[in-house]
Amino acid sequence: MRVVRAASGDRGSVGQGLLTRIAACVGTPVYVYDAEAIRRQYAALTGALAGVPHRVHYSVKANANLAVLALIRSLGAGADIVSGGELARVRRAGFAGQDIVFSGVGKTDRELAAALQAGVGLINLESEGEFELLARLARERGTGRPVSVGIRVNPDVTADTHPYTQTGAAGMKFGVPLDQVVPLAQRIAAAAELVLRSVGMHLGSQISDPAPYRQGAARLAELVEALRAAGIRTLASVDVGGGLAISYGTSPALDARTFAEAVSPLARRTGLPLLVEPGRFLVGNAGCLLTRVLYRKRSGGRVFLVTDAGMNDLLRPSLYGAYHEIRVVDGDSGAGGAAVSAGGELVDVVGPNCESGDFLGLDRRLPGAGPGTLLAVLGAGAYGFGMSFPYNSRPRAAEVLVDGGRYAVVRDREGVDDLMRGESAQPVWRDP
Ligand code: LLP
Repeated sequence: MRVVRAASGDRGSVGQGLLTRIAACVGTPVYVYDAEAIRRQYAALTGALAGVPHRVHYSVKANANLAVLALIRSLGAGADIVSGGELARVRRAGFAGQDIVFSGVGKTDRELAAALQAGVGLINLESEGEFELLARLARERGTGRPVSVGIRVNPDVTADTHPYTQTGAAGMKFGVPLDQVVPLAQRIAAAAELVLRSVGMHLGSQISDPAPYRQGAARLAELVEALRAAGIRTLASVDVGGGLAISYGTSPALDARTFAEAVSPLARRTGLPLLVEPGRFLVGNAGCLLTRVLYRKRSGGRVFLVTDAGMNDLLRPSLYGAYHEIRVVDGDSGAGGAAVSAGGELVDVVGPNCESGDFLGLDRRLPGAGPGTLLAVLGAGAYGFGMSFPYNSRPRAAEVLVDGGRYAVVRDREGVDDLMRGESAQPVWRDP
Protein backbone atom coordinates (compact mmCIF):
# COMPACT_ATOMS: atom_id res chain seq x y z
CA MET A 1 0.00 0.00 0.00
CA ARG A 2 1.20 3.48 -0.82
CA VAL A 3 -0.34 6.13 1.35
CA VAL A 4 1.00 9.26 -0.31
CA ARG A 5 -0.64 9.36 -3.68
CA ALA A 6 0.37 10.91 -6.94
CA ALA A 7 -2.57 12.66 -8.56
CA SER A 8 -2.93 9.88 -11.07
CA GLY A 9 -2.99 6.99 -8.66
CA ASP A 10 -1.12 5.11 -6.00
CA ARG A 11 2.38 5.69 -7.26
CA GLY A 12 3.76 7.48 -4.23
CA SER A 13 7.17 6.56 -2.92
CA VAL A 14 6.27 6.73 0.76
CA GLY A 15 5.13 3.34 1.98
CA GLN A 16 3.64 1.97 5.14
CA GLY A 17 6.96 1.01 6.73
CA LEU A 18 8.43 4.47 6.43
CA LEU A 19 5.25 6.12 7.73
CA THR A 20 5.16 3.78 10.71
CA ARG A 21 8.77 4.63 11.44
CA ILE A 22 8.19 8.38 11.13
CA ALA A 23 5.20 8.22 13.46
CA ALA A 24 7.22 6.25 16.00
CA CYS A 25 10.23 8.58 15.89
CA VAL A 26 8.60 11.98 15.39
CA GLY A 27 5.26 11.33 17.07
CA THR A 28 1.76 12.18 15.88
CA PRO A 29 0.07 14.20 14.54
CA VAL A 30 2.65 14.74 11.83
CA TYR A 31 2.45 15.92 8.24
CA VAL A 32 4.55 13.91 5.78
CA TYR A 33 5.43 15.24 2.33
CA ASP A 34 6.91 13.29 -0.56
CA ALA A 35 9.50 15.29 -2.53
CA GLU A 36 9.29 12.95 -5.50
CA ALA A 37 5.53 13.42 -5.83
CA ILE A 38 6.02 17.21 -5.95
CA ARG A 39 8.68 16.88 -8.64
CA ARG A 40 6.38 14.63 -10.66
CA GLN A 41 3.50 17.10 -10.53
CA TYR A 42 5.76 19.98 -11.50
CA ALA A 43 7.09 18.00 -14.45
CA ALA A 44 3.55 17.06 -15.52
CA LEU A 45 2.44 20.69 -15.54
CA THR A 46 5.48 22.19 -17.25
CA GLY A 47 5.45 19.30 -19.74
CA ALA A 48 1.81 19.94 -20.58
CA LEU A 49 2.49 23.67 -21.09
CA ALA A 50 5.65 23.10 -23.12
CA GLY A 51 3.94 24.25 -26.32
CA VAL A 52 3.64 27.85 -25.14
CA PRO A 53 5.99 30.19 -23.29
CA HIS A 54 5.08 30.01 -19.63
CA ARG A 55 6.37 30.29 -16.08
CA VAL A 56 5.02 28.47 -13.04
CA HIS A 57 4.72 30.56 -9.89
CA TYR A 58 3.95 28.26 -6.98
CA SER A 59 1.11 29.53 -4.82
CA VAL A 60 2.82 29.53 -1.46
CA LYS A 61 -0.33 29.50 0.67
CA ALA A 62 -0.96 25.86 -0.28
CA ASN A 63 2.11 24.75 1.66
CA ALA A 64 4.58 27.32 2.90
CA ASN A 65 7.08 25.05 4.62
CA LEU A 66 10.58 26.36 3.89
CA ALA A 67 11.87 22.98 2.72
CA VAL A 68 8.92 22.57 0.35
CA LEU A 69 9.53 26.08 -0.98
CA ALA A 70 13.23 25.43 -1.48
CA LEU A 71 12.43 22.19 -3.32
CA ILE A 72 9.96 23.90 -5.64
CA ARG A 73 12.39 26.76 -6.26
CA SER A 74 15.07 24.24 -7.19
CA LEU A 75 12.75 22.92 -9.91
CA GLY A 76 12.74 26.35 -11.53
CA ALA A 77 9.44 27.77 -10.30
CA GLY A 78 8.82 31.31 -9.15
CA ALA A 79 6.55 32.09 -6.19
CA ASP A 80 3.06 33.56 -5.91
CA ILE A 81 2.59 35.19 -2.52
CA VAL A 82 -0.24 37.02 -0.76
CA SER A 83 1.29 38.50 2.39
CA GLY A 84 4.38 39.97 3.95
CA GLY A 85 4.80 36.73 5.89
CA GLU A 86 4.88 34.74 2.67
CA LEU A 87 7.35 37.25 1.25
CA ALA A 88 9.68 36.64 4.19
CA ARG A 89 9.32 32.89 3.76
CA VAL A 90 10.08 32.80 0.05
CA ARG A 91 13.07 35.09 0.53
CA ARG A 92 14.39 32.76 3.21
CA ALA A 93 13.82 29.80 0.91
CA GLY A 94 16.04 31.51 -1.67
CA PHE A 95 13.60 32.96 -4.22
CA ALA A 96 14.97 36.07 -5.93
CA GLY A 97 12.78 39.16 -5.79
CA GLN A 98 12.32 39.06 -9.54
CA ASP A 99 10.82 35.56 -9.30
CA ILE A 100 8.02 36.62 -6.97
CA VAL A 101 4.47 37.64 -7.91
CA PHE A 102 2.60 39.42 -5.12
CA SER A 103 -1.17 38.83 -5.31
CA GLY A 104 -3.88 39.42 -2.72
CA VAL A 105 -6.85 41.64 -2.16
CA GLY A 106 -5.75 43.39 1.02
CA LYS A 107 -2.06 44.26 0.93
CA THR A 108 -1.06 46.75 3.62
CA ASP A 109 1.31 49.67 3.13
CA ARG A 110 3.96 47.79 5.11
CA GLU A 111 3.58 44.74 2.90
CA LEU A 112 3.78 46.80 -0.27
CA ALA A 113 6.82 48.68 1.06
CA ALA A 114 8.49 45.33 1.85
CA ALA A 115 7.70 44.16 -1.69
CA LEU A 116 9.34 47.27 -3.15
CA GLN A 117 12.33 46.75 -0.89
CA ALA A 118 12.66 43.13 -2.04
CA GLY A 119 12.35 44.06 -5.71
CA VAL A 120 9.31 41.81 -6.24
CA GLY A 121 8.94 41.04 -9.94
CA LEU A 122 5.23 41.75 -10.25
CA ILE A 123 2.66 43.25 -7.90
CA ASN A 124 -0.88 42.34 -8.90
CA LEU A 125 -3.23 45.21 -8.09
CA GLU A 126 -6.79 44.43 -7.08
CA SER A 127 -8.29 47.88 -6.61
CA GLU A 128 -7.92 51.53 -7.44
CA GLY A 129 -7.08 52.26 -3.81
CA GLU A 130 -4.21 49.82 -3.95
CA PHE A 131 -2.95 51.45 -7.15
CA GLU A 132 -2.95 54.84 -5.45
CA LEU A 133 -1.16 53.54 -2.38
CA LEU A 134 1.49 51.71 -4.37
CA ALA A 135 2.09 54.68 -6.67
CA ARG A 136 2.61 56.90 -3.61
CA LEU A 137 4.97 54.41 -1.95
CA ALA A 138 6.95 53.99 -5.17
CA ARG A 139 7.15 57.76 -5.61
CA GLU A 140 8.36 58.22 -2.03
CA ARG A 141 10.97 55.52 -2.52
CA GLY A 142 12.05 57.10 -5.77
CA THR A 143 14.09 54.24 -7.15
CA GLY A 144 14.37 55.37 -10.75
CA ARG A 145 13.06 52.21 -12.39
CA PRO A 146 9.26 51.93 -12.57
CA VAL A 147 7.66 49.17 -10.51
CA SER A 148 6.12 46.32 -12.54
CA VAL A 149 2.46 45.79 -11.76
CA GLY A 150 -0.31 43.60 -13.01
CA ILE A 151 -4.07 43.92 -12.71
CA ARG A 152 -5.95 40.99 -11.31
CA VAL A 153 -9.15 41.00 -13.26
CA ASN A 154 -12.49 39.67 -12.13
CA PRO A 155 -13.52 38.06 -15.44
CA ASP A 156 -17.02 37.23 -14.23
CA VAL A 157 -16.57 33.51 -14.73
CA THR A 158 -18.16 31.11 -12.28
CA ALA A 159 -16.32 27.89 -11.54
CA ASP A 160 -18.22 24.99 -10.07
CA THR A 161 -16.42 24.52 -6.79
CA HIS A 162 -17.12 25.09 -3.10
CA PRO A 163 -18.64 28.57 -2.61
CA TYR A 164 -15.78 29.53 -0.29
CA THR A 165 -13.20 28.82 -2.99
CA GLN A 166 -14.89 30.59 -5.91
CA THR A 167 -13.25 33.89 -6.77
CA GLY A 168 -13.88 34.75 -10.41
CA ALA A 169 -17.57 35.60 -10.46
CA ALA A 170 -18.92 39.15 -10.49
CA GLY A 171 -19.87 40.47 -7.08
CA MET A 172 -16.96 38.84 -5.26
CA LYS A 173 -14.28 40.74 -3.40
CA PHE A 174 -11.52 39.58 -5.74
CA GLY A 175 -10.09 41.35 -8.76
CA VAL A 176 -10.99 44.45 -10.74
CA PRO A 177 -14.28 44.16 -12.65
CA LEU A 178 -13.74 43.89 -16.42
CA ASP A 179 -15.29 47.27 -17.21
CA GLN A 180 -12.92 49.04 -14.80
CA VAL A 181 -9.70 47.55 -16.15
CA VAL A 182 -8.97 49.85 -19.11
CA PRO A 183 -9.50 53.06 -17.06
CA LEU A 184 -7.24 51.69 -14.31
CA ALA A 185 -4.62 50.67 -16.89
CA GLN A 186 -4.68 54.22 -18.23
CA ARG A 187 -4.11 55.62 -14.77
CA ILE A 188 -1.19 53.22 -14.33
CA ALA A 189 0.21 54.25 -17.72
CA ALA A 190 0.06 57.87 -16.64
CA ALA A 191 1.94 57.15 -13.39
CA ALA A 192 5.66 57.40 -14.07
CA GLU A 193 6.59 55.19 -11.11
CA LEU A 194 4.55 52.17 -12.25
CA VAL A 195 4.41 50.13 -15.44
CA LEU A 196 1.62 47.70 -16.34
CA ARG A 197 3.23 44.37 -17.23
CA SER A 198 0.45 41.86 -16.81
CA VAL A 199 -3.24 41.20 -16.55
CA GLY A 200 -4.50 38.08 -14.90
CA MET A 201 -7.25 36.10 -13.27
CA HIS A 202 -7.64 33.47 -10.61
CA LEU A 203 -10.97 31.72 -10.91
CA GLY A 204 -11.02 29.76 -7.68
CA SER A 205 -9.65 26.55 -6.32
CA GLN A 206 -10.25 22.83 -6.87
CA ILE A 207 -11.67 23.40 -10.37
CA SER A 208 -12.01 20.17 -12.33
CA ASP A 209 -13.84 21.47 -15.40
CA PRO A 210 -11.66 23.16 -18.06
CA ALA A 211 -14.59 25.25 -19.36
CA PRO A 212 -14.16 28.18 -16.93
CA TYR A 213 -10.48 28.38 -17.86
CA ARG A 214 -11.40 28.48 -21.54
CA GLN A 215 -13.97 31.18 -20.90
CA GLY A 216 -11.67 33.22 -18.67
CA ALA A 217 -8.79 32.90 -21.12
CA ALA A 218 -11.01 34.19 -23.92
CA ARG A 219 -12.04 37.18 -21.78
CA LEU A 220 -8.42 37.96 -20.95
CA ALA A 221 -7.50 37.76 -24.65
CA GLU A 222 -10.24 40.26 -25.50
CA LEU A 223 -9.07 42.45 -22.67
CA VAL A 224 -5.47 42.43 -23.91
CA GLU A 225 -6.77 43.50 -27.30
CA ALA A 226 -8.82 46.29 -25.72
CA LEU A 227 -5.81 47.46 -23.72
CA ARG A 228 -3.65 47.53 -26.83
CA ALA A 229 -6.34 49.44 -28.66
CA ALA A 230 -6.28 51.94 -25.80
CA GLY A 231 -2.56 52.47 -26.33
CA ILE A 232 -1.17 50.21 -23.60
CA ARG A 233 2.00 48.64 -25.06
CA THR A 234 3.82 47.44 -21.96
CA LEU A 235 2.19 44.05 -21.29
CA ALA A 236 4.72 41.23 -20.92
CA SER A 237 2.61 38.33 -19.57
CA VAL A 238 -0.90 37.10 -18.87
CA ASP A 239 -1.62 35.33 -15.60
CA VAL A 240 -4.16 32.50 -15.62
CA GLY A 241 -3.98 31.86 -11.88
CA GLY A 242 -4.12 28.48 -10.20
CA GLY A 243 -7.01 26.33 -9.10
CA LEU A 244 -6.39 22.99 -10.83
CA ALA A 245 -8.31 20.27 -9.05
CA ILE A 246 -6.65 17.19 -7.69
CA SER A 247 -8.43 13.95 -6.90
CA TYR A 248 -9.13 13.33 -3.25
CA GLY A 249 -9.97 9.74 -4.03
CA THR A 250 -13.46 9.97 -5.50
CA SER A 251 -13.58 13.45 -7.06
CA PRO A 252 -12.16 14.14 -10.54
CA ALA A 253 -8.83 15.92 -11.06
CA LEU A 254 -8.08 18.44 -13.78
CA ASP A 255 -5.48 16.82 -15.97
CA ALA A 256 -2.51 19.10 -16.72
CA ARG A 257 -2.92 18.58 -20.47
CA THR A 258 -6.60 19.47 -20.39
CA PHE A 259 -5.75 22.61 -18.44
CA ALA A 260 -2.97 23.48 -20.89
CA GLU A 261 -5.32 23.05 -23.85
CA ALA A 262 -7.80 25.44 -22.24
CA VAL A 263 -5.36 28.25 -21.50
CA SER A 264 -2.78 27.96 -24.32
CA PRO A 265 -4.93 29.81 -26.89
CA LEU A 266 -4.51 32.89 -24.69
CA ALA A 267 -0.73 32.80 -25.19
CA ARG A 268 -1.09 32.22 -28.92
CA ARG A 269 -3.69 34.89 -29.45
CA THR A 270 -1.87 37.59 -27.47
CA GLY A 271 1.72 36.55 -28.15
CA LEU A 272 2.35 36.84 -24.41
CA PRO A 273 3.82 34.22 -22.08
CA LEU A 274 1.52 32.66 -19.50
CA LEU A 275 2.00 32.88 -15.78
CA VAL A 276 0.44 29.96 -13.91
CA GLU A 277 -0.09 29.93 -10.12
CA PRO A 278 -0.81 26.39 -9.00
CA GLY A 279 -0.74 25.50 -5.33
CA ARG A 280 -2.78 22.40 -4.60
CA PHE A 281 -1.86 20.71 -7.90
CA LEU A 282 1.82 20.60 -6.93
CA VAL A 283 1.59 19.59 -3.29
CA GLY A 284 -1.92 18.35 -2.41
CA ASN A 285 -1.46 14.67 -3.07
CA ALA A 286 2.19 14.77 -2.07
CA GLY A 287 1.26 14.92 1.60
CA CYS A 288 -0.61 13.06 4.27
CA LEU A 289 -1.40 13.69 7.90
CA LEU A 290 -0.52 10.86 10.27
CA THR A 291 -2.66 10.58 13.34
CA ARG A 292 -3.14 7.92 15.97
CA VAL A 293 -6.45 6.62 17.26
CA LEU A 294 -6.80 7.38 20.96
CA TYR A 295 -10.19 5.89 21.75
CA ARG A 296 -13.12 4.10 20.23
CA LYS A 297 -16.57 4.76 21.58
CA ARG A 298 -20.22 4.27 20.71
CA SER A 299 -23.02 6.73 21.14
CA GLY A 300 -26.54 6.86 19.77
CA GLY A 301 -25.85 4.15 17.23
CA ARG A 302 -22.68 5.76 15.94
CA VAL A 303 -19.12 4.56 16.35
CA PHE A 304 -16.39 7.12 16.89
CA LEU A 305 -12.66 6.80 16.51
CA VAL A 306 -11.17 9.69 18.47
CA THR A 307 -7.80 10.66 17.01
CA ASP A 308 -4.96 12.85 18.23
CA ALA A 309 -5.40 15.16 15.20
CA GLY A 310 -8.47 17.27 14.65
CA MET A 311 -9.86 20.33 12.94
CA ASN A 312 -7.06 22.44 14.38
CA ASP A 313 -4.58 20.29 12.43
CA LEU A 314 -6.65 19.77 9.27
CA LEU A 315 -9.53 22.21 8.92
CA ARG A 316 -10.75 21.30 5.44
CA PRO A 317 -13.30 18.63 6.46
CA SER A 318 -14.89 20.91 9.05
CA LEU A 319 -14.76 24.13 7.01
CA TYR A 320 -15.68 22.91 3.54
CA GLY A 321 -17.11 19.48 4.25
CA ALA A 322 -14.09 18.30 2.26
CA TYR A 323 -13.52 14.59 1.76
CA HIS A 324 -10.07 13.25 2.59
CA GLU A 325 -9.46 9.56 2.18
CA ILE A 326 -8.33 7.92 5.42
CA ARG A 327 -6.33 4.71 5.48
CA VAL A 328 -5.05 2.42 8.18
CA VAL A 329 -1.26 2.44 8.22
CA ASP A 330 -0.67 0.02 11.06
CA GLY A 331 -2.77 -1.46 13.77
CA ASP A 332 -0.50 -2.79 16.46
CA SER A 333 1.44 0.10 17.77
CA GLY A 334 0.13 0.87 21.14
CA ALA A 335 -2.41 1.25 23.82
CA GLY A 336 -5.34 -1.05 24.17
CA GLY A 337 -5.44 -2.39 20.61
CA ALA A 338 -8.08 -4.90 21.60
CA ALA A 339 -11.14 -2.79 20.91
CA VAL A 340 -10.87 -2.70 17.14
CA SER A 341 -13.82 -1.88 14.94
CA ALA A 342 -15.36 -4.75 13.09
CA GLY A 343 -14.75 -5.10 9.36
CA GLY A 344 -17.73 -3.47 7.71
CA GLU A 345 -18.74 -1.02 10.40
CA LEU A 346 -19.03 2.66 9.56
CA VAL A 347 -17.08 4.94 11.85
CA ASP A 348 -16.69 8.69 12.32
CA VAL A 349 -13.09 9.77 12.68
CA VAL A 350 -13.24 12.69 15.07
CA GLY A 351 -10.68 14.99 16.65
CA PRO A 352 -10.02 15.84 20.27
CA ASN A 353 -11.33 19.43 20.14
CA CYS A 354 -14.37 20.56 22.04
CA GLU A 355 -16.44 21.19 18.91
CA SER A 356 -19.01 18.87 17.37
CA GLY A 357 -17.79 20.00 13.95
CA ASP A 358 -14.35 18.59 14.72
CA PHE A 359 -13.95 15.60 12.42
CA LEU A 360 -11.54 14.26 9.81
CA GLY A 361 -13.99 11.93 8.13
CA LEU A 362 -17.54 10.67 8.61
CA ASP A 363 -19.06 7.28 7.78
CA ARG A 364 -15.79 5.58 6.94
CA ARG A 365 -14.92 1.91 6.79
CA LEU A 366 -11.61 1.35 8.55
CA PRO A 367 -11.45 -2.36 9.29
CA GLY A 368 -9.24 -3.20 12.20
CA ALA A 369 -8.86 0.36 13.43
CA GLY A 370 -8.97 0.91 17.18
CA PRO A 371 -6.95 2.52 19.92
CA GLY A 372 -3.28 2.74 18.92
CA THR A 373 -3.94 2.40 15.19
CA LEU A 374 -1.96 4.75 12.99
CA LEU A 375 -4.10 6.43 10.34
CA ALA A 376 -3.05 8.42 7.29
CA VAL A 377 -5.31 11.21 6.09
CA LEU A 378 -4.50 11.56 2.41
CA GLY A 379 -4.41 14.59 0.15
CA ALA A 380 -3.26 16.74 3.06
CA GLY A 381 -0.23 18.34 1.40
CA ALA A 382 -2.14 21.47 0.41
CA TYR A 383 -4.04 23.74 2.82
CA GLY A 384 -3.30 21.29 5.62
CA PHE A 385 -0.58 22.54 7.90
CA GLY A 386 -0.91 26.05 6.51
CA MET A 387 -4.48 26.32 7.79
CA SER A 388 -3.75 24.66 11.11
CA PHE A 389 -4.07 26.63 14.29
CA PRO A 390 -3.55 26.08 17.99
CA TYR A 391 -7.19 25.98 19.10
CA ASN A 392 -7.76 24.34 22.46
CA SER A 393 -4.10 25.26 22.99
CA ARG A 394 -2.96 22.31 20.96
CA PRO A 395 0.53 22.90 19.61
CA ARG A 396 0.79 22.58 15.85
CA ALA A 397 1.99 19.31 14.32
CA ALA A 398 5.48 18.52 13.08
CA GLU A 399 6.26 18.40 9.36
CA VAL A 400 8.46 15.82 7.66
CA LEU A 401 9.86 15.68 4.13
CA VAL A 402 10.69 12.34 2.57
CA ASP A 403 13.14 12.01 -0.30
CA GLY A 404 15.07 9.06 -1.67
CA GLY A 405 14.07 6.73 1.16
CA ARG A 406 15.21 9.20 3.84
CA TYR A 407 13.22 11.64 5.87
CA ALA A 408 13.89 14.96 7.56
CA VAL A 409 11.88 16.84 10.16
CA VAL A 410 11.40 20.15 8.38
CA ARG A 411 9.36 21.74 11.13
CA ASP A 412 9.56 20.75 14.75
CA ARG A 413 6.40 20.03 16.62
CA GLU A 414 5.38 23.12 18.53
CA GLY A 415 5.65 23.08 22.29
CA VAL A 416 3.47 24.78 24.85
CA ASP A 417 6.05 27.55 25.24
CA ASP A 418 5.54 28.37 21.56
CA LEU A 419 1.85 28.76 22.28
CA MET A 420 2.42 31.36 24.97
CA ARG A 421 5.26 33.31 23.38
CA GLY A 422 4.66 37.04 23.76
CA GLU A 423 1.88 36.60 26.31
CA SER A 424 2.03 37.74 29.87
CA ALA A 425 -0.06 36.93 32.93
CA GLN A 426 1.06 40.24 34.40
CA PRO A 427 -0.05 43.03 32.09
CA VAL A 428 2.39 45.89 31.72
CA TRP A 429 -0.07 48.79 31.75
CA ARG A 430 0.51 51.88 29.67
CA ASP A 431 -1.22 55.23 29.82
CA PRO A 432 -2.68 56.06 26.43
N1 LLP B 1 -3.48 32.26 -7.05
C1 LLP B 1 -4.25 32.97 -6.21
C2 LLP B 1 -4.37 34.42 -6.38
C3 LLP B 1 -4.95 32.33 -5.17
O1 LLP B 1 -5.70 33.03 -4.35
C4 LLP B 1 -4.82 30.92 -5.03
C5 LLP B 1 -5.55 30.22 -3.98
C6 LLP B 1 -3.99 30.23 -5.91
C7 LLP B 1 -3.35 30.93 -6.92
C8 LLP B 1 -3.77 28.76 -5.83
O2 LLP B 1 -4.93 28.00 -5.93
P1 LLP B 1 -4.79 26.39 -6.03
O3 LLP B 1 -3.99 26.09 -7.27
O4 LLP B 1 -4.10 25.91 -4.82
O5 LLP B 1 -6.19 25.93 -6.10
N2 LLP B 1 -8.20 26.77 1.53
C9 LLP B 1 -8.87 26.29 0.35
C10 LLP B 1 -8.23 26.78 -0.91
C11 LLP B 1 -8.12 28.29 -0.98
C12 LLP B 1 -7.38 28.78 -2.19
C13 LLP B 1 -7.08 30.21 -2.07
N3 LLP B 1 -6.40 30.77 -3.20
C14 LLP B 1 -8.93 24.77 0.40
O6 LLP B 1 -8.44 24.18 1.36
O7 LLP B 1 -9.52 24.15 -0.47
